Amino acid sequence: MTPPAARDLAIHVIPVSPDTGCASVFDRFLSEPETRSIPIVRNGRPVGLVSRKNFLITYARMYGAELYGKRPVALLMERDILIVDADTSCETINARARSAFGDMRMRPFVVTENGTYAGIGDAARLMMVMADLAAARAAALEEQTRRAEAASASKTQFLASMSHELRTPLNAIIGFADLMRLKTLGEVQPPRYQEYVEDIHKSGVHLLNMINELLDMAKIESGHVELRETVFFPMDVGLDVLRMLRQSIAEAELQLRVTIAEGLPPIYADQQQIRRVLINLLSNAIKYTPAGGTVTLSVCVCGPNDECGVEGMLLTVEDTGIGIPAEKLEKVLEAFEQVENSFTRTRAGTGLGLALTKAMVEAHGGRLWLESELGKGTKAHALLPSSRIVTDAPAQRSAV
Ligand SMILES: Nc1ncnc2c1ncn2[C@@H]1O[C@H](COP(=O)(O)OP(=O)(O)OP(=O)(O)O)[C@@H](O)[C@H]1O
Ligand SMILES: [Mg+2]
Repeated sequence: MTPPAARDLAIHVIPVSPDTGCASVFDRFLSEPETRSIPIVRNGRPVGLVSRKNFLITYARMYGAELYGKRPVALLMERDILIVDADTSCETINARARSAFGDMRMRPFVVTENGTYAGIGDAARLMMVMADLAAARAAALEEQTRRAEAASASKTQFLASMSHELRTPLNAIIGFADLMRLKTLGEVQPPRYQEYVEDIHKSGVHLLNMINELLDMAKIESGHVELRETVFFPMDVGLDVLRMLRQSIAEAELQLRVTIAEGLPPIYADQQQIRRVLINLLSNAIKYTPAGGTVTLSVCVCGPNDECGVEGMLLTVEDTGIGIPAEKLEKVLEAFEQVENSFTRTRAGTGLGLALTKAMVEAHGGRLWLESELGKGTKAHALLPSSRIVTDAPAQRSAV
């Protein structure tokens, strides 16, 4: 069904010419109580409009009849009228009316076919059509959202079940490769195969990590993030993660700095997730910083009067690496978003690290954001809200 246009709103009101006497227009208004306005048309072209209200007020003033009775109606017509072609859509009429008259609302408009008068458009009907259009649009949008949500849910479900299915055979591959690599049942013959077995094991572990990340993402997208909260010192976790990454930091020929504020209080959070947050941020810093650079981990508590401008426990990983272009700073926080595309990419990764990190920090009521300068370095901040800081527990004394 084609949407209604100007012609569908037009009612045919017999027009009068500009030199019609006001007395006969007055008679028309008296004899046609339904007519709210009369168009003034010269040679078929609309030139103005007299509205019942304005005309009658002027005409009925004392001596109005004597003053105007014999004079042409053009004297009393409104000249700033809206003229629209019969094909004009209701939305366009509405927009034009608004820009022409601002708050016109109930002002009628004149409809023409090829420039010739065709009828008077009723503003009340226009408003009804606009209301119907808005309602139809809202319903369509709601339906679209519902479909998109359903599609997204089934995709997440698919991802979750696929990941599960893949993990079982992969665990067998990793397990048996490990058995062979460790020569549990004897030497691998010929010795060359030993190398292959190492590769099979390494690739298997890599794949499993990827699948685990995908599974985590699927869980997060379906809203199943569970927090197993305990009270612990974030510094213990930080140092433990750094111990684990020591080898890759050395291999990448990077300097490591740690600044953990003195007397840091414990937090109430999911230790495993905070660990993952730090691993992901530090791995990125290591991965995207060329040899000779520095990676810094800092943890501090910020209060309302501190210069950091935020409140809570702030975990920051800073590097002197390649940086992220300003227009990608928000984007890389989304799943599968990487600065380099898959054709130009020089570093391994699925692009899930930051999305997972963000989701985990947000699950704690916190916030994750990046600051970066291309070619200079990046700062990744994870802020845990003050409510996660345990204030009535003894603080950790040592600082690094
Ligand atoms: N410290 C950083 N310096 C420069 N670029 C970074 C840094 N951290 C993240 N990026 C950019 O953001 C992208 C997304 O990071 P994210 O950790 O989500 O994925 P990834 O590291 O590519 O893969 P993985 O899923 O293995 O973590 C990266 O591909 C990289 O382009
Ligand atoms: Mg990463």
